[in-house]
Amino acid sequence: RIPKYVKIVEVGPRDGLQNEKYIVPTDVKIELIKMLAFSGLPVIEATSFVSPKWVPQLADAKFVMQAVQNVQGSRFPVLTPNLKGLEAAVAAGAKEVAVFASASESFSKSNINCTIEESLIRYRDVASAAEKFSLPVRGYISCVVGCPVEGAVSTSQVAYVAKELSDMGCYEISLGDTIGVGTPGTVIPMLEAVIDVVPIEKLAVHFHDTYGQALSNIFLSLQMGISAVDSSIAGLGGCPYAKGASGNVATEDVVYMLNGLGIETKVDLQKLLLAGDFICKHLGRASGSKAATAFSKT
Ligand code: HMG
Ligand code: MG
Repeated sequence: RIPKYVKIVEVGPRDGLQNEKYIVPTDVKIELIKMLAFSGLPVIEATSFVSPKWVPQLADAKFVMQAVQNVQGSRFPVLTPNLKGLEAAVAAGAKEVAVFASASESFSKSNINCTIEESLIRYRDVASAAEKFSLPVRGYISCVVGCPVEGAVSTSQVAYVAKELSDMGCYEISLGDTIGVGTPGTVIPMLEAVIDVVPIEKLAVHFHDTYGQALSNIFLSLQMGISAVDSSIAGLGGCPYAKGASGNVATEDVVYMLNGLGIETKVDLQKLLLAGDFICKHLGRASGSKAATAFSKT
């Protein structure tokens, strides 16, 4: 049942950096993205075309996108919360975009300043405009097992939002445990509910490692037949509107596990480690990847 190939969606340059207070220079972001592409990662989320008032770190989205759009070998999707973001993304050369809804009302309000229903209306417009530009659209759902304000989130609510995103044309739905509270005990029933309404080939998982549960949750997702996994170089990340959310699961740790399982990823772990070293040195921070930390000592 475990897939032979897993597509890793690297979200470090976006999800990883969006929460950094210190503004990372544009050149450093571009170099990071190039190093990640060189490691063989097929998809690298490059930046977000969101309001710079909401996410100051990514105010240079246009320049990052212009610089990487022709880097060969990887795709570079970007987040677009509305038509304004979509237009700016297209103008900067984006060839793929992502919309991001929430399974919890409180988080929707704090992250994108509207209700879930309002966001779905907005995203239908983004999806149909993207179709005119022939841009594939990925859909995210935040808070798929827990919300920082509301606590537990119902599986039927996640399934509902997933079906809506799928129906509006998203080619893939990434299920995000934004605050990293999920365990196999809550993730399995959530996935079962979503698999009932959206074909499993369209699903991806996006775990944050706040409670150290991410790799277990990824492994069970693979066992259930999911073959797309989001992760972030050096475990960078957190969401600016989800207090207490720690980093995304580290890409190095995911690749190490998948190598151990004999699952193909097309990613060269040595080159990936170099990309992790590069950004950690720049941020003056120890890596959040256990695999990278272990390799650095051997
Ligand atoms: P708003 O304040 O309700 O929107 O924000 P508005 O339409 O009233 O606009 C306010 C200002 O923003 C205006 O500027 C707009 O022009 C500007 P002003 O007139 O005040 O000078 N604006 C924009 N500027 C640039 N690009 C745009 C854009 N749109 C409006 N696209 C909005 C609503 C959605 C824009 C805002 O809430 C926002 O940008 N939110 C983004 C938050 C975000 O990026 N969060 C992190 C990503 S989600 C995440 O991390 C979770 C995920 O990883 C999955 C998981 O972990 O679970 C995906
Ligand atoms: Mg995230």
